[in-house]
Amino acid sequence: MTANPAKPLSGEVYYPSPDVIEQARVKDWEALAAFANQDLEGFWAREAEELEWFQKWEKVLDDSNKPFYKWFVGGKVNIAHNCIDRHLKTYRKNKLALIWESEDGKEHRTFSYFALNREVSRMANIIKAMGIQKGDRVTIYMGRVPEIVFAMLACAKIGAIHSVVFGGFSVDALQGRIEDSQSKLVITMDGSYQNGKVVELKRTVDEALKRCPSVENVLVIKRVGHEVPMEAGRDHWYHDLLALPIASGKCPTEVMDAEDPLFILYTSGSTGKPKAILHTHGGYMVGTYTTLKYVFDIKDEDRWWCTADPGWITGHSYLVYGPLLNGATSFMYEGGPTYPYPDRWWQCIERYGITIFYTAPTAIRGLMRFGEAWPAKHDLSSLRLLGSVGEPINPEAWRWFYRVIGKERCPIMDTWWQTETGMFMITPMPVVPLKPGSGTRPFFGQRAEILDEHGNPVKDGEEGYLVLLRPWPSMMRTIYNDPDRYLQQYWSKYPGKYLTGDSARRDEDGYFWIIGRTDDVIKVSGHRLGTAEIESALVSHPAVAEAASIGLPHEIKGQGIHAFVLLRAGYQPSPELGEQLRQHVASHLGPIARPEEIHFMDKLPKTRSGKIMRRVLRARALGLPEGDVSTLEE
Ligand code: WT7
Repeated sequence: MTANPAKPLSGEVYYPSPDVIEQARVKDWEALAAFANQDLEGFWAREAEELEWFQKWEKVLDDSNKPFYKWFVGGKVNIAHNCIDRHLKTYRKNKLALIWESEDGKEHRTFSYFALNREVSRMANIIKAMGIQKGDRVTIYMGRVPEIVFAMLACAKIGAIHSVVFGGFSVDALQGRIEDSQSKLVITMDGSYQNGKVVELKRTVDEALKRCPSVENVLVIKRVGHEVPMEAGRDHWYHDLLALPIASGKCPTEVMDAEDPLFILYTSGSTGKPKAILHTHGGYMVGTYTTLKYVFDIKDEDRWWCTADPGWITGHSYLVYGPLLNGATSFMYEGGPTYPYPDRWWQCIERYGITIFYTAPTAIRGLMRFGEAWPAKHDLSSLRLLGSVGEPINPEAWRWFYRVIGKERCPIMDTWWQTETGMFMITPMPVVPLKPGSGTRPFFGQRAEILDEHGNPVKDGEEGYLVLLRPWPSMMRTIYNDPDRYLQQYWSKYPGKYLTGDSARRDEDGYFWIIGRTDDVIKVSGHRLGTAEIESALVSHPAVAEAASIGLPHEIKGQGIHAFVLLRAGYQPSPELGEQLRQHVASHLGPIARPEEIHFMDKLPKTRSGKIMRRVLRARALGLPEGDVSTLEE
């Protein structure tokens, strides 16, 4: 779609203003899309050439062993070199890379690219001195402070594989991820701030490490100043090590193969344990660089704010790597949107002159509740583009965001993508006409289809399984240590097509509308949780014999967790027990996994082979038809 399509689009459409068109880097969307479509490798090679390679690739795309695609084969590179070192040779050396504000608003820290290089090098030297080498896994379990960015980049710089675990997860989630990755080092903090309270990160690490023998060292950053136990020989205060000569501000950047792993990030799938999604230095770098450049039109004078936590893929791709690859100035805020007052974010936009603001529907819905007076207290005129990610945005929230925050001047980029895709896949660009609730069309070089159960494309307007047809550079390479599961999960339902796990429909203008997950993944405030994880936390409670969990619509969170439990003999249902079980899940997995409600059951709907039919539970809860129940036990 271009700014003025020949045929008017159907439905509620927002066309870009002349101002937006004038500022946009890509004015002719169709032309670039056509080029990428007919020359996929040519398109991506041209993007890759804008970055620095120690040695150029021999082949852009190697698809000889599908679906284990390889990109920029033979190329030598390091993403950290392109995030930092590359800029030090230019005027960007003294440009701000990172601006940070504390939750209480009293602390501000800024880092130029020059300073970022020093901080990352110091951390890199320290973890090297702890014996971390190329290919070793490092678990990072921290709050939103600049040191989490240093830690990720320090790993990348020396070729270690980082595995960031969201600081809102608790002991079971952390322990499972450390164990699966066989990390040798954990980087954490004494604690982090969350709505004025302290989250005891180090104590959770201590708990988890009781069952993780692979970990040799724990590096602890002091943030809250709480007393925490330090195990001699294993635990080290970061500030102590910074004072040693090993913590020099110079550290060589390791030369990596384009296909060498950069990080793993655990995400919930339909069954079993969370999966370690693996991304690489070369392709991931090119994908995140290119998408941020085009979709959010990042320019040198911009101030970019992605509100995501680095513990999720959005934080990896668009808070840490993408902005630095583009030489942008990025803002990071330690806290949440409503503490101490619901204008905390608007205050930050005004204070730092944010020009592009990328957030999640759940946050927008949460802030809408407090009314327009809070944003009205602040000058938001610096904004030029807005963005949304994580779940479908309901049109009411879209319109509020557009009108109250963007003052009807700022297009909203509703970006659909996943941990697995690494980068935006279905997304508008500033010149593309918008429809509230639709991510519009696939990114350059991509094609998407909506299929029925048998693999036939459905008619426009009908719901089906969303698949992607063409490889892209930042696609996951595998599930770490489990290539069979990679094949099975993403490539087996429709051979040769990438199964997203989402259902969607396409309208007559070719716009895609995401409906939701088709698997047992629940999106709570945009965060991805697996029913299996919630259920195993529940059955670890002595009162619970069996458990099932589903997501049901929730006004703010999008989906809330509802758990159905069968008690062991000798336990009686009661509100107190329900409350205890909710708390049990929260303390094992993390507060985001706390069920809205516990429903006590005499029986759970199961197939004859004993699989719980969550679909039936969901239908019953919503008062919908139960669908095909021919496999239901009795
Ligand atoms: C799932 C991936 C990648 C960003 C954060 C989430 C849902 C994501 C959108 C959107 C509708 C969306 C999908 C997807 N989703 N963005 N703009 N519109 N749905 O990453 O945790 O891997 O979750 O989030 O269901 O499959 P994730």
